[in-house]
Amino acid sequence: MREKILVLGSNGQIGTELVTALRKIYGEDYVVACDIRRPDYDIKNSGPFEFVNVLERETLNTIFQKYKPTQVYLLAALLSATGEQNPKLAWDLNMNGLLNVLELALVYKTAKVYWPSSIAVFGPNSPKVNTPQYCVMDPNTVYGISKLAGERWCEYYNQKYGLDVRSIRYPGLISWKAAPGGGTTDYAIHIFHDALKKSSYASFLDADTELPMMYMDDAIRGTIELMDAPSEYISIRSSYNFGGVSFTPEVLAAEIKKHIPDFQLSYTANDPRQLIANSWPSSIDDAFATKDWAWKPQFDLAKMTTDMLDNLKNK
Ligand code: SER
Repeated sequence: MREKILVLGSNGQIGTELVTALRKIYGEDYVVACDIRRPDYDIKNSGPFEFVNVLERETLNTIFQKYKPTQVYLLAALLSATGEQNPKLAWDLNMNGLLNVLELALVYKTAKVYWPSSIAVFGPNSPKVNTPQYCVMDPNTVYGISKLAGERWCEYYNQKYGLDVRSIRYPGLISWKAAPGGGTTDYAIHIFHDALKKSSYASFLDADTELPMMYMDDAIRGTIELMDAPSEYISIRSSYNFGGVSFTPEVLAAEIKKHIPDFQLSYTANDPRQLIANSWPSSIDDAFATKDWAWKPQFDLAKMTTDMLDNLKNK
């Protein structure tokens, strides 16, 4: 049977690139992009698009009925920084959106569901360095709380109803195609834009704030590899730790300086995102992803920086 794939939240930072990658693999007509906002040019012109709000159960039901998807990727979410500005909406969207999709996946017998979690599931008492898959988790942002609760629901639907749900705890994702969506790690994208525009950047995170990050190419490849892995290899049905590269604003700036020698980094004080970053891991132990589905990142800091600058220059 041919795959039919729904991508809910297709216009965001991840969706924009995931839809393109999936359409290359499965064919343009077989990947349906869905979002509450008008799609960008590429997505609209390369295959089907539907306006869908994942909180509107009836509309979502119509879409499941129309396409009978074999795979669903649910990417619609409020991220960490925006979530703190509107905690109730973050909880509603991140939680009820997921529950709607899990329920409909059972009704329409969707073979596989993908839902992203985040390093935000960890908190101030989690081990900071090489944070393991299983440890104390006491997230203190509404985003992290919703992701941790969502992970529990994913595992519950798998164990109780046999739903094939798969998930990854994304680190900060660095990309150039679409704008980032209001996260604590967004500085690591803005810095590239400003470096090219004005050779300087004012970071909202301190010089030595080390966070786990990943280049989008790796993230998209890893996501599709997880979804392609045989079900019996997937030993974790909550969400996998997923490692890429870790760095601080200062280290990233030094790498950018190799390309733009007059680049200057400054820091803004008292940004609320600093407190969020302080509660997160600085690096991730992803041994389960390596063991279960052979995860291996390909972009280190140098390769990522070169690729970002080259692509942004040509954009
Ligand atoms: N990039 C995300 C954020 O900063 C982490 O999942 O919110």
